[in-house]
Amino acid sequence: MLASATTLSEPSRCKRLKAASTRDHDSVDELVMAARPFDDRERYGLFLQVQHRFHGSLLALYRDEQLNQRLPGLVQLSRFEAVETDMRALDLALPPMPKQISVSPAQALGWLYCSEGSNLGAAFLFKQTQRLGLEGDQGAQHLAPHPDGRALHWREFVAKVDGLTLDADEEAEAIAGAIAAFDSYRTILREVFPD
Ligand code: HEM
Repeated sequence: MLASATTLSEPSRCKRLKAASTRDHDSVDELVMAARPFDDRERYGLFLQVQHRFHGSLLALYRDEQLNQRLPGLVQLSRFEAVETDMRALDLALPPMPKQISVSPAQALGWLYCSEGSNLGAAFLFKQTQRLGLEGDQGAQHLAPHPDGRALHWREFVAKVDGLTLDADEEAEAIAGAIAAFDSYRTILREVFPD
C-alpha cells in the first residue's frame, strides 16, 4: 500500500502525525478552554479527572516492554503518577484505575505522540494554574516543566519516533492512533465537563 500524498509531503513521521492531527488538536484545545478548567479549584479538580483518565488509560503503553525497547526511557515519561500526586495535594479522592487502551504497536506510537505532545501545550496550562494559586508541587506538578525543560524531552521523543522503521500500513496505523487519542481525550472531556 502506498502512503497518501499528505503523509509523503511531510519530511518526518512526527511532522506527518502533526499534519494529520492538527484539526483534532485545535478542536481539543478549544474544548479544554471552553470547559474553563482554571476558573476555580472545583473546575480544576474536574480537569485533573480528565487527565487521570487519559494518562491513566495509557499507563500500560508507557510500561510496555516492547515499546520501551523501541523508545528507550518511555516508562519514565508517563505523567500519570504526577496527576495522582496533584489530586492528593488537593485532597481529591483518587478515581479507580482507568481501563487500559489496547492497540497495535504502530497505533501506540500515535497515542504516545498525542500524549507527549500535550506537554508542550501544558506550558500555557501551567501558567493558568498560577491564577488558582497552585504551585508546581502543590496540585499542578503534572503540568510543570521538566527540570531540563519541555523542549529537550520532546525533541528526544520525536527523534526516537522518527528513527523507527515502519511499513506503509504501520505509518497509517500510527496516524490513526494519534487521531484516536485526540478523540478519546475529547470524549473524556465531554463526559467529565458535561455543560
Ligand atoms: C487548552 C489546551 C491546549 C493548548 C492551549 C495547547 C497548545 C499547544 C501549543 C501552543 C502547542 C505547540 C507548542 C510548541 O510547538 O512549542 C501544542 C502542541 C501539541 N499539543 Fe497541545 N494544547 C492544548 C491541549 C492539548 C491536549 C489536551 C493534547 C492531547 C491530548 C495536546 C496535544 C498536543 C500535541 C501532540 C502537540 C505537538 C504538536 C507537534 O508539534 O507535533 N494538546 N499544543
